[in-house]
Amino acid sequence: MADDIIAVKPEIAAKARVDAAKRDAMVAAEARDADAFWRSEMTRIAWMKEPTKIKAVDFTGDVSIKWFWDGELNASVSCLDRHLATRGDQVAIIWEGDDPNSDSKVTYRDLHARVCKLANAMRKLGVKKGDRVCIYLPMIVEAAVAMLACARVGAIHSIVFGGFSPDSLASRIQDSACSLLITADEGRRGGRKVPLKANADEALLACPSIRHVIVAKNTGGTVAMKDGRDHWWEALTAGEPDTCEPERMNAEDPLFILYTSGSTGKPKGVLHTTGGYMVWAAFTHDNVFDYRDGEIYWCTADVGWVTGHTYIVYGPLANGATTLMFEGVPSWPDNGRFWQVCAKHKVNIFYTAPTAIRALMRDGEAPVRKHDRSSIRILGSVGEPINPEAWLWYYRVVGDERCPIVDTWWQTETGGILISPLPGAVAQKPGSATLPLPGVKPAIVDGEGNILDGAAEGNLVILDSWPGQMRTIYGDHPRFAQTYFSTFPGKYFTGDGARRDADGYYWITGRVDDVINVAGHRMGTAEVESALVAHQSVAEAAVVGMPHDIKGQGIYAYVTLKAGVEPTEALRKELVAWVRKEIGPIATPDAIQWAPGLPKTRSGKIMRRILRKIAANETDGLGDTSTLADPGVVQELIENKVG
Ligand code: WT7
Repeated sequence: MADDIIAVKPEIAAKARVDAAKRDAMVAAEARDADAFWRSEMTRIAWMKEPTKIKAVDFTGDVSIKWFWDGELNASVSCLDRHLATRGDQVAIIWEGDDPNSDSKVTYRDLHARVCKLANAMRKLGVKKGDRVCIYLPMIVEAAVAMLACARVGAIHSIVFGGFSPDSLASRIQDSACSLLITADEGRRGGRKVPLKANADEALLACPSIRHVIVAKNTGGTVAMKDGRDHWWEALTAGEPDTCEPERMNAEDPLFILYTSGSTGKPKGVLHTTGGYMVWAAFTHDNVFDYRDGEIYWCTADVGWVTGHTYIVYGPLANGATTLMFEGVPSWPDNGRFWQVCAKHKVNIFYTAPTAIRALMRDGEAPVRKHDRSSIRILGSVGEPINPEAWLWYYRVVGDERCPIVDTWWQTETGGILISPLPGAVAQKPGSATLPLPGVKPAIVDGEGNILDGAAEGNLVILDSWPGQMRTIYGDHPRFAQTYFSTFPGKYFTGDGARRDADGYYWITGRVDDVINVAGHRMGTAEVESALVAHQSVAEAAVVGMPHDIKGQGIYAYVTLKAGVEPTEALRKELVAWVRKEIGPIATPDAIQWAPGLPKTRSGKIMRRILRKIAANETDGLGDTSTLADPGVVQELIENKVG
């Protein structure tokens, strides 16, 4: 079943802008003369000064990546100004609230005005080109306005997902020394309120770099406002003009920082620059989703993640699309919400995560069938491997076997999609992200870095740069070179494992490092461990991913308590609550096992390979345990496995 092939339907190929022949031509054109190919693709965005230099990349030594590097532009102009003459009255953003009775529509003209007013107000607060601005907002239109206003004045935005704790917010603000925070009184999700301003107030006790806070009124809930520091968005922007001179940015000036988890240490600030990122966002959104003028496009992600950056805001708006922003969750007020919203707004392109599909699958077909999905033309998947069963359900039940599914593989670091079918050009196999986009050069290498040809399984690397690639880790370029280019020198290492079949199709098998993917949210096991050991009762902790039916992976924690501390159910609950408070609800451990000892090598290194197998109930194949300092602990852990 997993090797089923679903051919491109002739009626889809006939209408798609990229069919198989066109895709072949693109791949060939890029291979023949990459500079010429990108010189032509770069015209998808608006330049103030057209680049003459296309690409200067070195994946060795200090690592240096530059695209379009003598060009000048402003990302907000590509997303707004240049559309005003042709589509000023077209809806840019459809906002659908958590409450099914609340929605609104913002035209390109309105959006431009709102962005300009905020940008003017930000300049008055002293925000200048290169300053860092933290955005901690729910899924409301203001989130897109804030991003584009930062771009307008040349400030670098750093969005922190609204589900993160005050501590997580504070450490991200500190790392990039943000001077302005944009937040809201409260967020709404699934009928509940999220106390964003209260969280921010707590975080800011440890953030001396923040000089001003702009607060959007969303729920109207009562919040504390600090005189001189905190400003209501509405009052601050009301008197500002609705035009604003855009800052001239070099193509390689930063557009945003987005923190993401790695296998070690604190989350790192992935930095994207302006020109290459915008070209990649526009190029991929257009080709992968086959976007057509007038269509309604909905990506269900949150702007707190890279998917929201590239495929709710920058990509769709650069392409003049109508993008839907959804504040709520798939299960509220009931599990038909996604399809109710699709019917209500006549959504044509729908892009979501496998974890949502699996959760909805559990409730059967009725909640889907109840709503009219005939407007949907293309379905997309992102964030984690989609199992063939979920893929086929998505295809049959949601798409009525009419709609191609684009399973898009990419990462925060890649800025946009790298491996995905083009819906009118590439036959799909359920569970495979299929083929690289034109210009993307993946390879599979073995543990020693040897490139494997033909059908093969190993580590996924990318051999050459693409315009949307991250340029550095904010404030730590050596860590950038070390993290991504030292494992397999001269190649970009993705951290993922992959298999390539005889047709050249890629099947992503998941992370091969100490990063786990919980319901599409990326998390470093080290982060959860350091939260656990920060608790007074905990001596040591080891965290691994475990298979989870809905979330893909769940969080399994082995905890060694300090001498004299009793392992009680109350303490277990306390530790779960502790991690939620330290990091945020997305880091909630699914299982905690008391571990009198952890399997370690004689040099003291925890053998996670063994812990992963125990958590997955795969204790038959534990492999070699003879190098363990105390092989007895393994048996103890197996016998007391949780769940
Ligand atoms: C990791 C990146 C891509 C934007 C959202 C997540 C996994 C992502 C797929 C896919 C298999 C996928 C990978 C990757 N991943 N998309 N279609 N098939 N795995 O971005 O938080 O940076 O996570 O998500 O493991 O490395 P992210």
